[in-house]
Amino acid sequence: MCGIFGCILKEGNAAPLIHSSLKRLEYRGYDSVGIATISDGKMYIKKDSGKIDEVDKIVNLDDMPGNLGIGHTRWATHGAPLKVNSHPHTDCTGEIAVVHNGIIENFMELRAELQNLGHTFVSKTDTEVMPHLIEETLKQNPNLTFQQAVLASLKRIEGSYAFAIISTREPNKIICARNESPLVLGINGKGVFCASDIPAFLEVTNKAVMINNGELVILTADGYEIRRISDNSPVTRDPIKVEWTAEMAVKQGYPHFMIKEIHEQPETLRNTLRIQDHYLDLLATFLDRANEVFLVACGTSYHACLAASYMFSKLAFLPTYPVYASEFLEQCGKSVNIDSTLLAVSQSGETADTIGAVSCAQQRAATVLSLTNVIGSTMTRISRVYIGTQAGPEIGVAATKTFTSQLSVLAQLALKLAKKRGKISQDEIDCLEENLKKMPDDVETIVRTQEEKIKQIAKKYVDSKVFFFLGRGISTATAFEGRLKLMEIAYIPSIAFPAGESKHGPISLIEDGFPVVFICPRDDTHKTVIGNIMEMKARGAHIIAVVEEGDKEIESLADDFIEVPKGIPSILSPIPFAVPLQLLAYYTALEKGYNPDMPRNLAKSVTVK
Ligand code: M6R
Repeated sequence: MCGIFGCILKEGNAAPLIHSSLKRLEYRGYDSVGIATISDGKMYIKKDSGKIDEVDKIVNLDDMPGNLGIGHTRWATHGAPLKVNSHPHTDCTGEIAVVHNGIIENFMELRAELQNLGHTFVSKTDTEVMPHLIEETLKQNPNLTFQQAVLASLKRIEGSYAFAIISTREPNKIICARNESPLVLGINGKGVFCASDIPAFLEVTNKAVMINNGELVILTADGYEIRRISDNSPVTRDPIKVEWTAEMAVKQGYPHFMIKEIHEQPETLRNTLRIQDHYLDLLATFLDRANEVFLVACGTSYHACLAASYMFSKLAFLPTYPVYASEFLEQCGKSVNIDSTLLAVSQSGETADTIGAVSCAQQRAATVLSLTNVIGSTMTRISRVYIGTQAGPEIGVAATKTFTSQLSVLAQLALKLAKKRGKISQDEIDCLEENLKKMPDDVETIVRTQEEKIKQIAKKYVDSKVFFFLGRGISTATAFEGRLKLMEIAYIPSIAFPAGESKHGPISLIEDGFPVVFICPRDDTHKTVIGNIMEMKARGAHIIAVVEEGDKEIESLADDFIEVPKGIPSILSPIPFAVPLQLLAYYTALEKGYNPDMPRNLAKSVTVK
């Protein structure tokens, strides 16, 4: 996730407006910033890594000539947050500048092809192929217009994008295009604007034009023209009036970041499926060679590790040890050695306990691999190899979209390792990959069909003094995550156990009306889970079951049930089954009158031990 903005003004310089609009998009990414303008047929670019204010202090972003320009605030996905990787990116001649939000999946092939044709690349980004591709298209077809060259280049791009592109060859226009990444236009009598989100231009206009997937837009000072990328046919679309306040707009109309981020999960899960295969392969190679593998993290990220330990064991027959990062030194410190591998998982990449565990492992010459959402964080700097979880900035303190992204990446990693080790059949691998691909749609279905119901369940149980969360097998991790979400934002003391353990003590707490949330995928644990539900019911518990659609057996036993789509393989079940629990926590917090985005005593990134 990054923020892009572009504008053509009838009068005055564009840079100050681009700068202030990027500030309003900073919630989409904030590790680097850059602006390109054109004046008198000449391209001007200022960019660097760092937050917008930090970069502005050094380069003065407002001080750039030209009534037309594009800007970018970055959340690194390919290439560390360094000046060289900051947008805008240019072609070899510096005539074309591009800002981009999204992931170009086939950038490695395109880059190799263009390099063979003599193009020089300076960054590690996927985006840089676009200006070179346009340059090459124009070189090979000198009669094409800038617009035609962009159109031809777009047809070679696979992946997601919102582009804004300018060229000194035709210095009076901006060309934009969209596939999957958001893009919206703004207009007023003084100019036209393109942006990732409405808040970027809400201060100057509330007249917006939504751009759809597969569309290209030509902006000039006089207006906009929309065309379909597939056949260049024109599209007519009138502006709409936006009624949001600036604050609502940053949250895209959602009342809180947490619910916005829960709803973003189909998109973020799609992004995880675009991770370059060779990164997964590299990580899987290290895991394959390891003598022992520790999965180390805190909080929600630890729950992803716990789920991953089932994935690695069941798919790749690799036993791993999930360890709370804060306990790593005491629990495993002495046994870690040169043959150990530590896979650290952290949304922020800055959690002190996790960094501490990594340092301990490094001192003992172990191999450190990591998974983080923040490229350029401490974690990426101290790991041998890392993968970004592609979820974009998460602002709500409670981790939601980053949890499901972590799970998706870990599942892909386990599958990669399974292939390497030849432990499960190709049919099984194919089936799991197919299911991973449809996960974004499954999550979309859950949110669309279950949200209202979950609101009612939250209302019904809001006064409960305590909650139980139970699951067996990999659903133990889901139960732990459900408990953490409810406790941290709704402040209801909650208990989670593997369902089988509950009868070894915790069951003594059960009395009439005690709410127990059961996680019930239709897997090998299903029958035993029914037994555990019966034990709880017999003692007066109220059962809230998260089940597969049409699971009549459990639905008939439960007081309330929430459904996820049918046929989810057990190993992937924590992804969809966690979503209703996020919603339950969110609506319970609202019922209690708490702000779910800022739970008391907590910080998004815990940088003290
Ligand atoms: O940034 P990290 O993933 O390392 O953070 C770990 C925990 O602090 C984090 O998951 C925390 O538990 C969240 N509040 C969970 O919602």
